[in-house]
Amino acid sequence: MDREFEFKQILRAFRAGIIGKAAFDEEMARLEGNGSSNGADGGFRAFGRTYKSERDAVISFLDKVRAGEANGGEAFAAWAAVCKTDCIHTGLHIIAEREAYHARVFEQRLLELGGEKRATAGEEGLKFRTYLSDPNVPDTEKLLSFTKKVGDAKEAVRPIHEFAALLKDDLATKEALKLFADDELSSVTWIWEVCATLNAPQRAAAPAPEQAEKAAM
Ligand SMILES: [Fe+2]
Repeated sequence: MDREFEFKQILRAFRAGIIGKAAFDEEMARLEGNGSSNGADGGFRAFGRTYKSERDAVISFLDKVRAGEANGGEAFAAWAAVCKTDCIHTGLHIIAEREAYHARVFEQRLLELGGEKRATAGEEGLKFRTYLSDPNVPDTEKLLSFTKKVGDAKEAVRPIHEFAALLKDDLATKEALKLFADDELSSVTWIWEVCATLNAPQRAAAPAPEQAEKAAM
């Protein structure tokens, strides 16, 4: 049922004295809390699982993304601090700032929705942060590792767009997710570009493995 319609029906029932104040409050809380469902069982399907409601799915998503982006912000800031390739270090700072503000904005939205900060960066995220902050790993190798890990830029942000498209009640998060996806696409696309540019001369200069083998014979 359309949420707006349901709201009017409940209000009408209350005004007409069909339901009492307690039932009215309970119905309102249910509407506020649950919102739209998109699953046959009344749940909200997203990311291959069913949440109790759209709100639950949003809170879970915001919490995980908030934690991941905060870690990403620290990881890129640490990389920028040890970066030896002059032409990328300011770009790395921009990505670090993007990641950090995504974390701040999503934390704020999470708290606005009554959610709690529960998620942590996760072992893989922390490991990657340590790797990116290592001054002994060349920037070219970090770029290659990042592109391998994240994969195609458009594919990487597709789940964000898909999730945003599912949201029917929380329009504030829905719109924010579109901007978030654009930022992520820009960051990942830029890394792919600099990765190709900075790794190209090395590859051209180094003999192909077969040639090197022949030369060594
Ligand atoms: Fe990110």
